[in-house]
Amino acid sequence: MSLKGRDVITIRDLSRDEIDETLAAARRLIPYAEGSKSSRILDGKILTLAFFEASTRTRLSFETAMQRLGGRCVTIAEAGASSMRKGESLHDTIKMLSQYGDAIVLRHPNEGAARLAAMVSDRPVINAGDGAGQHPTQTLLDLATIQEAFGTLSGLNVVLLGDLRYGRTVHSLARALAVYGNEIVLMSPPGLHLPDEVREQVDQLGAKVREEDQMHKAVREADVLYVTRIQKERFADEAEYAQVAGSYRVDNATLMGAKPRLIVMHPLPRTGEIAPEVDSTPHAAYFRQAFLAVPVRMALLSLVLTGKVP
Ligand code: NCD
Repeated sequence: MSLKGRDVITIRDLSRDEIDETLAAARRLIPYAEGSKSSRILDGKILTLAFFEASTRTRLSFETAMQRLGGRCVTIAEAGASSMRKGESLHDTIKMLSQYGDAIVLRHPNEGAARLAAMVSDRPVINAGDGAGQHPTQTLLDLATIQEAFGTLSGLNVVLLGDLRYGRTVHSLARALAVYGNEIVLMSPPGLHLPDEVREQVDQLGAKVREEDQMHKAVREADVLYVTRIQKERFADEAEYAQVAGSYRVDNATLMGAKPRLIVMHPLPRTGEIAPEVDSTPHAAYFRQAFLAVPVRMALLSLVLTGKVP
């Protein structure tokens, strides 16, 4: 396989073998992400980070990954800080950026923006979240977290809890879980169901998928409880948001009766969906998940920029 020079816009852009290869490389890169081993495989490479939406983990873990491997980054971290403010189109902005660095990581509020960017760019484009669309690199680190906890990516019961309508992380993850053969249990507040096209893709892959509304039943059967935030910024109408805000919360009482090996995941930021008391239980996997962003993005960047890993 070669990911060299490739765009990563949705998780469908990677075959199962390519995902496996990236995750295997990420496992080997953990000591590099921790700083106990070092490599300069990306020496001389420049990554352009174009973030037109808020981000902490995604942007900083890409930057950390790049710098840990000897590469450098140039960054637009705010919509108002680039010439898009002066009216420059996304098309022209991306065309420009692709003249500078070796690859572009784009986060944008519009669904489809990353695909458009990939069509325009002379360099590989990695989608770091396009509106309520997709977030494929988050899926890679989600899979890395599951694999580390269970030693497998298949045959698990995974509950997706929260805003499944606007949450781009679950759109990408649901497909990957289906590819690997897992049981997917969907739990969302009214009106925030998984979009039909995502559901259809998952069904077509032959995955066992069902909706559930009993939290205790879902938790009892789960191997993974993947919690997401309600994506407030995607609601057209405040009143609609107010109806669902705070409608679910995972705390230690929720987890009573869970399997000992259950892991609770969250792409973060959390805004009340997981009580802080859960952090000190063996179920909490979300900070490990956030750490694994670094070796996973190191692996992906090495493969896309050089075709190799250290
Ligand atoms: C997520 C995102 O931006 O989609 N965050 C992340 O990348 N870790 C989830 C969210 O914002 O709720």
